[in-house]
Amino acid sequence: MGIYSERIFPWLLDKALGHPRIEARRAALVGQAAGDVLEIGFGSGATLRFYDPAKVTRLTVVEPSEGMNRRAASRLAASPVPLRSVPGAGERLPFDDACFDTVVTCLTLCSVSDVRKVLSEIRRVLRPGGQFLFLEHVLSEDAGMRRWQGRLNPVQKVVGVGCNLDRDSAAMVRAAGFSLRPVAQEIEPAFGAVARLTPLIAGAAVRPG
Ligand SMILES: C[S@@+](CC[C@H](N)C(=O)[O-])C[C@H]1O[C@@H](n2cnc3c(N)ncnc32)[C@H](O)[C@@H]1O
Repeated sequence: MGIYSERIFPWLLDKALGHPRIEARRAALVGQAAGDVLEIGFGSGATLRFYDPAKVTRLTVVEPSEGMNRRAASRLAASPVPLRSVPGAGERLPFDDACFDTVVTCLTLCSVSDVRKVLSEIRRVLRPGGQFLFLEHVLSEDAGMRRWQGRLNPVQKVVGVGCNLDRDSAAMVRAAGFSLRPVAQEIEPAFGAVARLTPLIAGAAVRPG
């Protein structure tokens, strides 16, 4: 792995996504998690402090990047909930069927290699009635912006270490068999110049029984 993806990018990401507005979104997302929880694409552990020990019995995190895991290490000791970090990636989760109450992704579906496989794995490891909570930046509803997302995607994939601007994540969540209420796109001013290229959605999809 290169020095950019393993050293510089994890540092950059913490700076770029450490804005109080993004932290508030993380808190709102993770505050809904309950029971035995899995977070995929844990990154440097920016969500960790928002898990509620009154609701979460155990948190399992999966993060394939060694650079991210190195940055997360210092946060793990201060976890508010019992935690285990398991090597792996979202496309092949090393867990039994139906063993989690909640699965969380925070700005991760944009970066995985195969979204459909990851969603199928999330569905497999969630118990019936379990919740998949996500906060993701997605393909814009605006046709002009969609064209820009397509043009800029090759650059974004390099700069963002595999991050894509043009994923219609809500549609893919529904296509994977989850039940999901309509989700509104929001432009997040904290993203500055790229805010309109990175509209956010947050949702709670349910694995049908
Ligand atoms: C934009 S970062 C977000 C990190 C963190 N969730 C946050 O909110 O700061 C995307 C994360 O997804 C991870 N990732 C990339 N491919 C993955 C995969 N196939 N399975 C699980 N995580 C993956 C990356 O290593 C990175 O840590």
